[in-house]
Amino acid sequence: MQRAAVAGRHTNRGNEQGGDHNTVTISERNPLTATQVGDAPGRGALVSMSDVSKSFDERQVITDLDLDVQPGSIVGLIGPSGCGKTTTVRLMTGLLWPTSGEVRVFGTPAHELSSRQRARIGYLPQIPALFPELSLRENLNFHASMYGLPLRRKRRINELLDWVELSEHRSTRVSDASGGMQRRLALAAAFVQDPVLAFLDEPTAGIDPILRAKFWERFRAMAGAGKTLVVTTQYVGEASECDLVALLSDGELVLFGTPDQLRWAAYEGEVVDVTFDTEPTDDQVAQLAGTDFVVGAIERVERRQLRIVVDDAERAVRDLTGALSAIGLQANEMWEHDVDYDEAFMRVVQRHRDRHQISADASAQESVA
Ligand SMILES: Nc1ncnc2c1ncn2[C@@H]1O[C@H](COP(=O)(O)OP(=O)(O)O)[C@@H](O)[C@H]1O
Ligand SMILES: [Mg+2]
Repeated sequence: MQRAAVAGRHTNRGNEQGGDHNTVTISERNPLTATQVGDAPGRGALVSMSDVSKSFDERQVITDLDLDVQPGSIVGLIGPSGCGKTTTVRLMTGLLWPTSGEVRVFGTPAHELSSRQRARIGYLPQIPALFPELSLRENLNFHASMYGLPLRRKRRINELLDWVELSEHRSTRVSDASGGMQRRLALAAAFVQDPVLAFLDEPTAGIDPILRAKFWERFRAMAGAGKTLVVTTQYVGEASECDLVALLSDGELVLFGTPDQLRWAAYEGEVVDVTFDTEPTDDQVAQLAGTDFVVGAIERVERRQLRIVVDDAERAVRDLTGALSAIGLQANEMWEHDVDYDEAFMRVVQRHRDRHQISADASAQESVA
């Protein structure tokens, strides 16, 4: 099992500075593979953000963001509402300029892209612009004409309508189409010119689970064919479909790593649940915490159930019984706790916020002293 946590220049730099509290750091025990990080930051990346901050009217909403997107991959941007996903995507498209730092796309500053370069980029805005008076097909046709797509245009449009399951409704006016249909149409429009790089801001919002699964199948196929996608989502479980997940919280990159690394980061270790005949005493829990099995905090899940963070869950399940009986605890059952994406998301965001609070409190104390 992949257990490394987590990646990007952001984290590496944090380590050099002696540990960045706000980012899950890489430990020696959990080294990253070269494909996840790349030893030469920025090299070969289609999109490269370095040290990017963005403020609106004095209020900083993105802080020191470092993020590379490699060709042929899907990078998922997740985070609580208002954390800066849309702003990040708009910075990547060049629609917004960073207050400081640099955003490069195809090696060019994002706001200086040529029209030729722009034609290779697809963009689904969170709030798409469609013509309400035109039919669905006419809307796609209009988008195609903007890219000067003369050849095989009809076939392309039919394929896209098919993909988003709107062929039957091709003649419906946008103003008569449901919200879900409009989102599907906007997604089709983002791909009309067959871009090599696409920014999709919540492509699956309000889409039913069956169609969502089909969309992801299609996204995966595109990445397989060498296309590059940056996708924001509120459905945290969709992280599993991404090659790398960037988790933002309050405008900061908290984690940039594989989906497995995100799940690992929930507890910064593997997790074993143990049930007992009797409720473990505080003293026993403290003794258990001192054994070399345990690498993190011990949580009481229920009166007679503990959750223990370990290095290696398999080894713990095999060998923990002995260590427990040495401190007078009889284990009933023991199993590896399977962390899902929602749990990981909530824990990582909460930890980030707690640490922020602690450092804010500490600096308040300092200024009082
Ligand atoms: N044009 C803008 N002017 C002022 N504030 C903005 C603007 N765009 C976004 N914000 C603020 O920036 C923060 C991040 O917003 P956004 O990027 O839309 O978050 P997300 O997409 O993650 O929900 C929010 O607090 C939002 O209110
Ligand atoms: Mg948004």
